[in-house]
Amino acid sequence: MVKTVTLTIKRMGNDGEGIAFYQNKPVYIYYAFLNEEVKVEIRRNKRGVYEGVLKEVITPSEHRIPVSWPYYELSGSVNLMHLNYLEALNYKRFIIKRLLERRIKDKVDLRRTVPSEKTSHYRNKTELPLIYFEGKNYPAHYQRGSNQIFKVEELIVEEESIIKAVKEVTALMDKYQINAYNFKTKRGAIASLSLRTNQKEELQITFLTKVKIDLKELVNELVGNNKKIISVYQNYVPNFKTNRDLYSGKLELIKGEKYLPIVLSGYQFYLTPFSFFQLNTLQANKIYQTIVKEGNFKKDDVVLEAYSGVGAIASFVSPYVKKVVAVEEVKAAVNDMNYSLKKNKLNNVKTITGDFKKLIKYLKTSFDKVIFDPPREGLTKVVLDYLLKTLPKEIIYLSCNPLSLIDDLKLLQEKYQIRSMTPYDFFPLTSQVESITFLKLK
Ligand SMILES: C[S@@+](CC[C@H](N)C(=O)[O-])C[C@H]1O[C@@H](n2cnc3c(N)ncnc32)[C@H](O)[C@@H]1O
Repeated sequence: MVKTVTLTIKRMGNDGEGIAFYQNKPVYIYYAFLNEEVKVEIRRNKRGVYEGVLKEVITPSEHRIPVSWPYYELSGSVNLMHLNYLEALNYKRFIIKRLLERRIKDKVDLRRTVPSEKTSHYRNKTELPLIYFEGKNYPAHYQRGSNQIFKVEELIVEEESIIKAVKEVTALMDKYQINAYNFKTKRGAIASLSLRTNQKEELQITFLTKVKIDLKELVNELVGNNKKIISVYQNYVPNFKTNRDLYSGKLELIKGEKYLPIVLSGYQFYLTPFSFFQLNTLQANKIYQTIVKEGNFKKDDVVLEAYSGVGAIASFVSPYVKKVVAVEEVKAAVNDMNYSLKKNKLNNVKTITGDFKKLIKYLKTSFDKVIFDPPREGLTKVVLDYLLKTLPKEIIYLSCNPLSLIDDLKLLQEKYQIRSMTPYDFFPLTSQVESITFLKLK
């Protein structure tokens, strides 16, 4: 049974949600902020936990601002749009501060969140599902917590060059009647679009198709009209169901250049569609510069960079050290890294393809410094055991998940001192917290 009640937000969760209490049990309420009085519909989710669907903000927080994006609550992809920017930055720092106070014994120099220059339209890459609706094609979003998609006529986080190109692609899909794939009716062809852009507003576009289809005419007109589209791929994935299946397809360059170049601080990174690159270009440049500045690198240092992507950090660091070993599991990213290193004439970076957790036991070199930028799960036991056994002098830890970061720091604190921690806002309007931590052997 659904009940409507009035509650007050007593604290904030780690995912941007407000937490109130109903019959002494926590109720998790998205889009509500600390101290607000709100009217919510209470439901129990599948795990038996109370969730409150926000119906009305009765007493708004002084930090609340109006939300203009019409898909805000339905999408959930940006969940802090109701907060003014300064308070959003404070919130991101607070999440780390609270975890540190609860779990870490030592006093930590936790700095202010580094703001993003762009607070909307900051993403240099997007993966958009497509939808065919009443005779037209549109970009779409997933409904929060569901695999249902809905059409979106206004995009909020993507860079403007991407938004322009999405409009051009969908208009040409309408013209050529090459439509979005519908998973229910199994009609249509193109399941999603992936677009990446650089500072010159050049674009690499990948069509993910469920069926093998000739896109030649559409693509010729597309690149004829928009000279900034320099690289077009088709990724034919007959078994596509979720984004995890992306890599199982057949990726083929169908027009233009193989690579989209992104230039940061004079280093060129040549990217193909499957390579990871940080999504907020300006923030990435800042964090890499901080690594060089605060990493205490010495000319005879041998450095390990694991989870390296196309080796952006390895490239920034390599002029200051003797050698860098960069480990990355996606073969395409390692190929792009090798090509980029060659173009940048950086000769002291050795690249290794493979799952770092599996190949760690074969690493023969001992490292003075290690740099990690793991996925959400954090370092995991095998990597922590390796660190506590080999004891490199310094560890630089980039994290996209404060929870796994703090778990890892808790284990490392016995041997390592946390020199500093800095949250970075890579994803404005969302509750995602990126950070960089510098650790030193005690
Ligand atoms: C968050 S990205 C960091 C990339 C890089 N540090 C940068 O700033 O561009 C994480 C990278 O780790 C890679 N990766 C994930 N799990 C891995 C594993 N077990 N072994 C090696 N690489 C892994 C992913 O493919 C991805 O390129």
